Amino acid sequence: MHHIFFSFVVALCFGTRWAVAALTSGEIANSLNELAQQGFAAKELVLEINSTADAGPIPHIYTEIDTMVAVVLTDVKFMVNTPIITDQAEEQDVYEGYSNFIQSLLELMDALSGSAAQLKSINQTTKNRVPSEIRILQSAVDAYFYNIIGLFPANSSYNAQANNQKAQVDTHCFQAVWAFDLGYSNGNQATYQARSKSYVHSRWMKRGSL
Ligand SMILES: *[C@@H]1O[C@H](CO)[C@@H](O)[C@H](O)[C@H]1NC(C)=O
Ligand SMILES: *[C@@H]1O[C@H](CO)[C@@H](O)[C@H](O)[C@H]1NC(C)=O
Ligand SMILES: *[C@@H]1O[C@H](CO)[C@@H](O)[C@H](O)[C@H]1NC(C)=O
Repeated sequence: MHHIFFSFVVALCFGTRWAVAALTSGEIANSLNELAQQGFAAKELVLEINSTADAGPIPHIYTEIDTMVAVVLTDVKFMVNTPIITDQAEEQDVYEGYSNFIQSLLELMDALSGSAAQLKSINQTTKNRVPSEIRILQSAVDAYFYNIIGLFPANSSYNAQANNQKAQVDTHCFQAVWAFDLGYSNGNQATYQARSKSYVHSRWMKRGSL
């Protein structure tokens, strides 16, 4: 699904030279808050599967994550033309949405870390599939957050705080992937992190790069 969507975006960028509209700060804040709800829902689902040990709903975790990725990538595309936000109240709105979404991702990653043993025991395919979903999500939100941080004036405290929170998401994603890897790999966390950083930091959708 991710790949199909990506091809669609590439076709839009390079094929049709379609003029892309900017998003308003209100639209960005709404989207962030909706993504946060989706993130919290995915977390609840993970915790429920962990406590019931019912493998049936596991595919819904992937669907929730794929949906977040699709929304995030669409927003990134539209944000390329969005100017820096100068109104303090608008900055505050976007920052609150951003913090909300970050919080949901931290809780989702912690839920996955704390449920890794159970998920792997009720369906072994989660061992590879969940880390792969996490990497796709992490890569998409990395580009998204970079663009959002770019909307805050460089000297604002929002900019500094948003950067700090973005780094926390990376750490929690690494921990979640690591939890699924435990007991199966001879590698250590440091080499894992080095490997995935080069993957994650392909900055093909960064602000202004298209
Ligand atoms: C998942 O379930 C196990 C076993 O019941 C429990 O020990 C663990 O704390 C649960 N994880 C979370 C994140 O609630
Ligand atoms: C494990 O998950 C995979 C992929 O979601 C599914 O195809 C398979 O049927 C599941 N196996 C069991 C035993 O539930
Ligand atoms: C940030 O820079 C702008 C323009 O250089 C200035 O007007 C504004 O007061 C600065 N804001 C802060 C919080 O330093």
